[in-house]
Amino acid sequence: MLVIRPETQQDYAAVYDLVAAAFGKPDEAELVNRIRPLSGAISLVAEEQAIIVGHILFTPVVLKDENNLPLDIKIAGLAPVAVLPGKQKSGIGGQLIERGLELCESAGFVGCVLLGHPEYYPRFGFQPSLSTFGITSTYDVPDPVFMAKELVPGAFGDVSGTIHYNPLFNGI
Ligand SMILES: CC(C)(COP(=O)(O)OP(=O)(O)OC[C@H]1O[C@@H](n2cnc3c(N)ncnc32)[C@H](O)[C@@H]1OP(=O)(O)O)[C@@H](O)C(=O)NCCC(=O)NCCS
Repeated sequence: MLVIRPETQQDYAAVYDLVAAAFGKPDEAELVNRIRPLSGAISLVAEEQAIIVGHILFTPVVLKDENNLPLDIKIAGLAPVAVLPGKQKSGIGGQLIERGLELCESAGFVGCVLLGHPEYYPRFGFQPSLSTFGITSTYDVPDPVFMAKELVPGAFGDVSGTIHYNPLFNGI
């Protein structure tokens, strides 16, 4: 049976190995170690028969207006999500994302953003962020790659600007 639960310190080593295996390099696993301690982070694992088969991390991001001033709106950034290579395409990533978004909403986040595959995330309600909401990011990526989802309906209705990830993301 698959269980989605909050990550604990006992999971850190298994999560490191899992994330490195999923991405085929250690960079994202190192990123997880750097950003997991951020205040407000939500880190979940998927566990199957005592084996960690998936992991997802959400951290707070900052929306700044055209004058580079931070806006008073609580937004989560989804990054990274990873599923053990032998366990991919069986719905684990989807369950991590859906449960994670529920927990983000419960924690008071009104929206979530991510950089990712445009074929995958729209099924969870993510839309191209700039063309849909007028919200861009500091990353120079095509519009469909930077996506956003309102967790509270209308949350992005009156805001626009640029999402800033924590500087600990630099280098990824
Ligand atoms: C992306 C990832 C987390 C998805 O988890 P998963 O458990 O395999 O996903 P699910 O089983 O919920 O969904 C499977 C769907 O995702 C799609 N998918 C998986 N990886 C994809 C990718 N790189 N590009 C586009 N679609 C992808 C599959 O094609 C499948 O689509 P279908 O349902 O139309 O056949 C997992 O494949 C993974 O760990 N990939 C390597 C790390 C990575 O790229 N992470 C995301 C960037 S932060």
